[in-house]
Formats: sequence, structure tokens, C-alpha cells
Amino acid sequence: MTTTIRHIADTTVLNNGVKMPWVGLGVWKTKEGDEVIQAVKHAIRAGYRSIDTAAVYGNETGVGTAIKESGVPREELFITTKVWNSDQGYDTTLRAFDESLRKLGLETIDLYLIHWPVKGKYKETWKALIQLQKEGRVKAIGVSNFQVHHLSDIIEDSGVVPAVNQVEFHPLLNQAELRAYCKEKGIQLEAWSPLMQGNLDQPLLSELAAKYGKSPAQIVLRWDLQHGVVTIPKSINEQRIRDNADLFDFVLSDEDMAKIDGLNQNKRFGPDPDNFNF
Ligand SMILES: NC(=O)c1ccc[n+]([C@@H]2O[C@H](COP(=O)([O-])OP(=O)(O)OC[C@H]3O[C@@H](n4cnc5c(N)ncnc54)[C@H](OP(=O)(O)O)[C@@H]3O)[C@@H](O)[C@H]2O)c1
Repeated sequence: MTTTIRHIADTTVLNNGVKMPWVGLGVWKTKEGDEVIQAVKHAIRAGYRSIDTAAVYGNETGVGTAIKESGVPREELFITTKVWNSDQGYDTTLRAFDESLRKLGLETIDLYLIHWPVKGKYKETWKALIQLQKEGRVKAIGVSNFQVHHLSDIIEDSGVVPAVNQVEFHPLLNQAELRAYCKEKGIQLEAWSPLMQGNLDQPLLSELAAKYGKSPAQIVLRWDLQHGVVTIPKSINEQRIRDNADLFDFVLSDEDMAKIDGLNQNKRFGPDPDNFNF
């Protein structure tokens, strides 16, 4: 089914019926001010309709400015932000949400995520997200960096299944077990650091890039889509932003998909969700 994704704005349907683009622009480490404003505008001009930010990235104001200046109607865009760890808990999450809305200059958020599963806090945080969704202030709610046990914990506690789980996912960390669990529960998996933070120098990726006439980045992003994983590559470079959206004129064969799957080493470039201290 995902090999039929034909356009940068094509969407997956989340478990509450909300449509989410398969491809978005990530803005972690993109500086507040002109840098993030230009990156988001380049992306929207290139056809992206989804932007992934977070309170802790410190650039929600710039994302909001770019949205306004883009000229694209708000309802055509899909905006994700996340509650930071130090704001977790019920009341503090509600306040953090208000602050994110204010900075973004928006009335609703398309997807609000718990950024990390902070022990002793994430269940209360999840209840706040459920409340925000009931009030119609956020269209879909989800989590990030949740392992299977974190997911089953909040589902059991609240009876509400997250729409999305955004996790580190790339050829060196292909999350087979988590992917299977999310598929079974109807949770859309979303890849962070899909480009391995720029560490794309794998001989197989270069070989496949030559074979398909694409770049290693495009091979990896296409592999995400064919696995049914939403992807949010980050770039501040206009040409790379455009290239990262140019994924719809080729299809990886089943054999080549399996070869990329074979690169897995369970290697993380980011923190381990079961062992982080921030
Ligand atoms: N939920 C979480 O905990 C979490 C954690 C990490 C990230 N994220 C989200 O996921 C997004 C993506 O992850 P990421 O920013 O860590 O890394 P990424 O998208 O895997 O890689 C970004 C890096 O690759 C470079 N790059 C971009 N396109 C390229 C291309 N076509 N060829 C070669 N290099 C390229 C970028 O440099 P230039 O900018 O110079 O092009 C940047 O250095 C983030 O921006 C953020 O929105 C979420």
C-alpha cells in the first residue's frame, strides 16, 4: 500500500481518522529566527505540508512566523509539537501546551506528543493530552520515544491508544519489535533521525543510490515510506530540503528493502528511552 504514495503531501490516516502527511520537515537544531523561518518556508514551497517542532527546540515562534508568511491556509498544514520533560505532569502539561500555542500563534495543534517517557510522570501527562483532545485543541495525540512497555502501560491505564509513536528509526535501528507492536495496536510509527543525523556513508546505500539514480538520503527515506513509517528529515539547506521530498519516482524492490533491513545493528545515535537522565 505504501508503495502507492505518490506525492509529498500524501497522508496516512491515524487511528482517530485524522490525516497526517507521510513526509514532514524536522527542525531540531534549526536555529530560532531567520534560519528556521527560511527552512520552513523552503519546505512549504517544495510542497511539504507537515512540520515537526518541540517546545525544547526553542524555535516554535519562528515556525509560527513561517507558517503565517507562507500564504498556505492553516488547515492545509500539519503541525506537530511536543511537551518537554520538565513540564510533564497534568497541570504543567496543560500550561506548556498553552505556551506552545502562543509561540506558534495557532489555535490548534495537529499532533501533540509526549517527548520522552519520564518515569512517574508520563501517565499524568498522557491524561492531560487526552483532555486537550477532548476539548478540540489538538487533533491527534501521541508519544515519542516510547518502548513497548511504556505504550502498554499508558494504554492499560487510560484506555486510549496513542495515534503516533515518534522514535529513532533508520537502517541501523529498524525497531522490528516496536514496529510490529505499533502495527498491531494501530499506532502510526514515525521516524526521527531518519538520515542517521547525516551519517549516510554506508556502501550498500551508495550502491543502491547508483542503481536507482537517487541519493543515499532518498534511498533511506523511500525505505521508510515502503515500511509504512512517517518520516521527518531535517535540513536547513534549500536544495536538500527539495531533494528529501523527491521520493516518488521510484520504488525499491522487495529484495533491496530486505538488504537495507539487513543493515540493522540496533545502533542508536540518540539516547536510550529506557536509560536517559534529562
Ligand atoms: N522525538 C525526539 O526525541 C526526536 C529526536 C531527534 C529528532 N527528532 C525530530 O526528527 C527530525 C529529524 O532528525 P534529526 O534532525 O536528528 O536528523 P536527520 O534528519 O536524520 O539528519 C539531519 C542531518 O542530515 C543532514 N542532511 C539533511 N538532508 C540531507 C541529505 N539529503 N543528504 C545529506 N545530509 C543531509 C542535515 O544537514 P543540513 O541541515 O545542513 O542539510 C543534518 O545534519 C528532527 O529535526 C526533529 O524534528 C525528534
